[in-house]
Amino acid sequence: MKKLWGGRFTKSAEQWVDEFGASISFDQELVKEDIEGSIAHVTMLGKCGILTEDEVTIIKNGLLRLKDKAENDELEYSVANEDIHLNIEKMLIDEIGQVGGKLHTGRSRNDQVATDMHLYLRSQVEEIIELINTLQDAIVGQANQHVETIAPGYTHLQRAQPISFAHHLLAYYWMLDRDKERLQDSLKRINMSPLGAGALAGTTFPIDRSYSATLLGFEKIYENSIDAVSDRDFIIEFLSNSSLIMMHLSRFCEELILWSTQEFNFIEMDDAFATGSSIMPQKKNPDMAELIRGKTGRVYGNLLGLLTVLKGTPLAYNKDMQEDKEGMFDTVRTIKGSLKIFEGMVSSMKVKKEVMAAAVKKDFSNATELADYLASKGLPFREAHEVVGKLVLTCIEHGVYLSDLPLSVFKEASSLFEDDIYGVLLPETAVSRRISAGGTGFEEVRRVLEQIANK
Ligand code: ARG
Repeated sequence: MKKLWGGRFTKSAEQWVDEFGASISFDQELVKEDIEGSIAHVTMLGKCGILTEDEVTIIKNGLLRLKDKAENDELEYSVANEDIHLNIEKMLIDEIGQVGGKLHTGRSRNDQVATDMHLYLRSQVEEIIELINTLQDAIVGQANQHVETIAPGYTHLQRAQPISFAHHLLAYYWMLDRDKERLQDSLKRINMSPLGAGALAGTTFPIDRSYSATLLGFEKIYENSIDAVSDRDFIIEFLSNSSLIMMHLSRFCEELILWSTQEFNFIEMDDAFATGSSIMPQKKNPDMAELIRGKTGRVYGNLLGLLTVLKGTPLAYNKDMQEDKEGMFDTVRTIKGSLKIFEGMVSSMKVKKEVMAAAVKKDFSNATELADYLASKGLPFREAHEVVGKLVLTCIEHGVYLSDLPLSVFKEASSLFEDDIYGVLLPETAVSRRISAGGTGFEEVRRVLEQIANK
């Protein structure tokens, strides 16, 4: 088939070479943006007197018809036409005749493809921000019910200090909040127009880049045509922001998986997000959480992939850049899918309060309370730490916990101990007293929940 760019060629590529070079199998995902960009471009050409009003009307109507067909899945793409841009242009010419060939005046596929991707990412990032909001709501919903649910807090996956379970959940709320902020900030750099940069050097036609940018809702235009067509930093930034989101989700997944084990038994996932085993009838596996944890790998891979694609390419456009798309599409699908599933998992999980509460009664996570107790009575904290460490050792030797020790043993360890220590050792006390800003104290957690509700 004759190529739209075939003038200087004497022979056409073989089909298998065409297939290797073509991107239509995946960049057809940009069809809406491609048509939208073309409509803005041709409107601008009309306004600047580069095409006549009649030509503009015919081309626009043709594009709108193609848009309808695209929405109804009626377009038939061909590998011979390489990519979405040439496919649409060819279809337009078939639809309205040779005047369709005027659409590409003052434009190149290089600024066109960059424009398409800016449009695409803008709407995807906005959707992803909404999905993060929904997940945050689910987290807050659980947190509201579990302010007074006491759970073991860990460092090194060893019992550390008792905490409010809501406080633990809200840690993820704030991580996601920063993820959202990063995405919002990135919109500044996504919402810019490369259109009109041409192949790399601009164009001789008297175009109005700001006008087409405004038609497309872009906040500003790229100030340098070479930069406009050759950088993909806005995609890398998206992949990087996505990697952070997945890293956060993956850590949360790991906890949900651990908490669902018989060993922890802190939560039960809803049946809707678990699966059984084909051989072991008792099994209920937290598959969805595992899968999100696993999919984190591909998002990191997409980030590293694109960084590597770009690192050695000279300015301006190189065909290498066609490799920017699949990782971006894959990341968008992965992030959106993961956030939706997560929202379902979090809002439907059953929290086993009693199991968590029982856990903190049978550990040494109240040891810090005892050290703080001595320190607040004037003993240097280092010495207090030593005294309590010895008491813990005594307990371990006798197979008991701190609150099981008689007052005489405490007194022997330090004369500063009084019988009010038994109250101090209670997990409820340990949690409720931690009212420093951002701490796990019930009062403080409630304050933060209120602050979130009033945002
Ligand atoms: N399919 C190409 C891409 O995705 C479009 C730009 C092609 N430009 C070119 N000069 N070959 O990058």
